[in-house]
Amino acid sequence: MRNIELSEIKKMEKQARENGDVISLAQGYPDFSTPWQVVEFVKNHLHEAVWHQYTLAMGNLKLREKIASNLNEEGGSYSPEEIIITAGANAGLMATLLSCFQPGDSIAILCPTYASYFQQFKIAGIIPIFIPLNEKNWSLDLELLSDRINAHKPKAILLCNPNNPTGTLLSKNELLQIANIAEKYNMLILCDEVYSFLVYDNKEYFSLSSLPEFKHNFIKIQSFSKKYAMTGWRIGYICSSKKIIEKILSVHDLLINCAPSVSQLAAISSLENGEKFVNYFKEEFTKRRDLFYDLIQDLNEFLFAYKPQGTYFYFIKLKKNYENFTSQLFNVAKVAVVKGNAFGPFYDNYFRISFAKEPEVLITAVERMKKFFTQLTP
Ligand SMILES: Cc1ncc(COP(=O)(O)O)c(C=O)c1O
Repeated sequence: MRNIELSEIKKMEKQARENGDVISLAQGYPDFSTPWQVVEFVKNHLHEAVWHQYTLAMGNLKLREKIASNLNEEGGSYSPEEIIITAGANAGLMATLLSCFQPGDSIAILCPTYASYFQQFKIAGIIPIFIPLNEKNWSLDLELLSDRINAHKPKAILLCNPNNPTGTLLSKNELLQIANIAEKYNMLILCDEVYSFLVYDNKEYFSLSSLPEFKHNFIKIQSFSKKYAMTGWRIGYICSSKKIIEKILSVHDLLINCAPSVSQLAAISSLENGEKFVNYFKEEFTKRRDLFYDLIQDLNEFLFAYKPQGTYFYFIKLKKNYENFTSQLFNVAKVAVVKGNAFGPFYDNYFRISFAKEPEVLITAVERMKKFFTQLTP
């Protein structure tokens, strides 16, 4: 049997859902409903047999045309043949790892980063080359990145931008420098952009997909999950050059055949009608980010966190050592969070929370944490 475990995030979420009185800040998903216009659109078309059947393995053409048109409005040059509709970003990344790499290949990865990547690497037999972010403010150390790539010559670099769990947003300049390094070492760049819609403080999101000169080695992994509050529909996409997409398509077909047709229908509508809802979601997330930051200032004797530039996570540093911190917090305070070392091997003294929750839930969670810390001696 292979040693692939359920990710720490999903384990904590499961435990939390099995215990009614636990507040879960573990798994990160918007607690909003999918925009009602999307739901109505699906209801109105659900009787059409075409949505009960397989689409092409690549996905519905109208959806791929819409995605290509949006990418090209931002400067890209994608055709619908260079896009695969996936069952969310995770399935897209898994198909990419299994099709573009051989067991034993290495991929550079910034860390801390999204827990599932480590397990996905394991499945594909990929060796991670860790490039730790600066613990000071979770910024990228480009010199370290360049040195590590020069030393290990990985086949690719995987970026999560903005980064789960630190909220680090890579700037256009940083991405261009990474692209130049990738060019020099003939590496692929995989970029998980599921939180690209959620950057704060009027910061601009930049994607290498807007520069056609990088298409030959850039793979964009996107999702409708977070942006349109559609996590349960399991829908996303990847785009790249035709040559790469053809490779990925064969594995995608073997893994899932095609993304759920009814969810592709919903995705068409979310692109047509979703933007005003996304603006509302962003406003709410901004309020929650600021609220949570203010709330935890009362706990600064025990913990510390930087305000994220994007995503809905805080990656929080414990100022003292606590044994089995997340289990104790779960059992005693009834708050589920995810332990830091789920996001990379250097983060025992950290934990992650998702603030994609109603303000009252965040207030109660922090009250419980306050009580917990004041009663606990390290
Ligand atoms: C960075 C990152 N990538 C991918 C996913 C999964 O996205 P999807 O629902 O599209 O599979 C998540 C979910 O938490 C995530 O945080």
